[in-house]
Amino acid sequence: MTSKREDFELDTWTNIDFADDEFDKLSRKNDRKFTIFKKRIKDTEQFKVEANVFDDSTYAALYKLVQDGHIIALGGPISSGKEAIVFEAYGRDNIGLAIKIYRINTSSFRQMTDYLTGDPRFSDIGSDKRDIVLAWTRKEFANLKRARDGGVRVPEPIAVKMNVLVMELIGVEGNVASKLQSIELENPLLAYQIIRDFMRKLHLSGLVHGDLSEYNILVYDGELCIIDIGQAVTHHHPNASKYLHRDCQNISKFFSRKGVETSEEILYNYITQKSS
Ligand SMILES: Nc1ncnc2c1ncn2[C@@H]1O[C@H](COP(=O)(O)OP(=O)(O)OP(=O)(O)O)[C@@H](O)[C@H]1O
Ligand SMILES: [Mg+2]
Repeated sequence: MTSKREDFELDTWTNIDFADDEFDKLSRKNDRKFTIFKKRIKDTEQFKVEANVFDDSTYAALYKLVQDGHIIALGGPISSGKEAIVFEAYGRDNIGLAIKIYRINTSSFRQMTDYLTGDPRFSDIGSDKRDIVLAWTRKEFANLKRARDGGVRVPEPIAVKMNVLVMELIGVEGNVASKLQSIELENPLLAYQIIRDFMRKLHLSGLVHGDLSEYNILVYDGELCIIDIGQAVTHHHPNASKYLHRDCQNISKFFSRKGVETSEEILYNYITQKSS
């Protein structure tokens, strides 16, 4: 867990020296334990394909997370996308974890930069690929924290190191949550009302998701949970309103198809109305 002071720094973004941190040093150092750790992951059946694309500093971040006790055991991959790979894992007291590892080389930096520019938390960020991905990872951690504090159901953020984000697993090992897009909804109206309230609470917390759709909402045991919040921007962002309109369009279209009476405008007005 981070201290209050660290949370503040993560959210308001103070200067973080990316230049040459402990992870680079660790990955360069010929540490025998680290070499064994890396080899063990590389040789594990479920990691074989993905693990070859990790760079040494990603291994070092994972190693540090294990050393710090955040990760006890790594499991298999849940998802492998262009930007990130998500693995199952176990943490302290056997809690289920989702480990999201952002790819340093294949992420779409131009798109990331669009979301980072205009966010006062990231005003110091340069154009280096790696720095952008690291900032993005920390941004997702900070956004998860802020959303949770605002009462939105998102995975609990647990730790962040370099391009590796550790969060609560939605679901249980071997039976992870499904995407809203792929399930049969018993009560679409209720689901809509819940998501509508999450969107409003997120907005009241000063954030706009920016990539909200039925693909970034998970359902487990009847509970809805919003994920993939790395691109979420603060209201200061020049495109915040455009992104909110797009989120409203995606969500209202999805629920309209399920028979709920709504529209982009109705949803937008609900989210942005002043509290009485
Ligand atoms: N906390 C979590 N608990 C359970 N599953 C998760 C969690 N986070 C992510 N996933 C799974 O991993 C997938 C990808 O995660 P996410 O959407 O955050 O990453 P992404 O880079 O946007 O990938 P994609 O392009 O596939 O959406 C999700 O659709 C979901 O199935
Ligand atoms: Mg996603």
